[in-house]
Amino acid sequence: MLDTVCWHDGAVRLIDQTRLPGEFVLLDCTTIEQLAEAIEVLRVRGAPAIGVSAAYGLALAARLSSADTHDALLADLQVAHDRLARTRPTAVNLFWALDRMMATARAARDADDPRALLLAEAEAIAVEDIAMCAAMGQHGAELMPAGARILTHCNAGALATVRHGTALAVIRAAHAQGKVAMVYADETRPLLQGARLTAWELHEDGIPVTLLTDNMAAHAMRQGMIDCVVVGADRIAANGDVANKIGTYGVAVLARHHGLPFYVAAPVSTFDFSLASGAGIPIEQRGPDEVRALGGVRTAPEVPVFNPAFDVTPAELVTAIITNAGVFRPPYSESLHGLRAT
Ligand code: MRU
Repeated sequence: MLDTVCWHDGAVRLIDQTRLPGEFVLLDCTTIEQLAEAIEVLRVRGAPAIGVSAAYGLALAARLSSADTHDALLADLQVAHDRLARTRPTAVNLFWALDRMMATARAARDADDPRALLLAEAEAIAVEDIAMCAAMGQHGAELMPAGARILTHCNAGALATVRHGTALAVIRAAHAQGKVAMVYADETRPLLQGARLTAWELHEDGIPVTLLTDNMAAHAMRQGMIDCVVVGADRIAANGDVANKIGTYGVAVLARHHGLPFYVAAPVSTFDFSLASGAGIPIEQRGPDEVRALGGVRTAPEVPVFNPAFDVTPAELVTAIITNAGVFRPPYSESLHGLRAT
């Protein structure tokens, strides 16, 4: 598969995930507004992919800017930064990447070609993302038992990163070692990332996948069909609380009830050590029609809707956090200190 996000001929090139699995369409974003819209409507989504897209976005903003002084360039970049920062609030990778790009821009005061430096920094963020996902895969695969039947929620795959994925990097690496008997992909209402994206990318790669609706996970566990759960994350607080796609918390509760390990896979860019716990993580609320309709077809009357895009799984339900820097176990307030230093 092509990279989910890349720089192509002066544009931010994305796989348009709203068109999958029906059509594989590439979208070249040539303006910041076009890129911001793409993030808002989930043409590109998944915490690491959003971060890399935003990094390329600031490289694009620099290229579009006609500023001829460093201060004027910084001012133009700040406008683009602020627009991109307003797209989605939960995935901390977005803010991490934007901050890193602004720091690069500020440090480029005496550079001959600050625009080239910014593009190089965005490319570095993308290359690091690929490497972190590959490392996570190797660390996580060691935790998977032989013949593993793994449940995952949402899409923490190649489509949520530049390449490989986070949870799906673990699954890909375990599959390469011959350890995966079956991946169970939760459909993931309301936007169906599990059905549209996870099932699609695993099927494309020849990894055995079975799709189930979210409300079938408890039954599958009770039937003894699942050995462990592996999910991604949008933001992890210093105490190990994990924000991820709505429904993840429920899966974690189910896993605990059935005595199954619940693993979270995430790169260092997903940690927010400024937050002591998950209580401080902003949860994105999305529009009502995502719940009142399915595939554009009305399925409910015009009633009010509760539509948080994410939930927070308390650290006590997380068996281990798989990162590019290794596997961390409870108590996370202590073990994650090692990661903070990397
Ligand atoms: O709303 P989305 O599709 O951006 O949500 C994505 C998730 O919740 C993923 O599980 C998370 O970003 C981890 S991706 C490697």
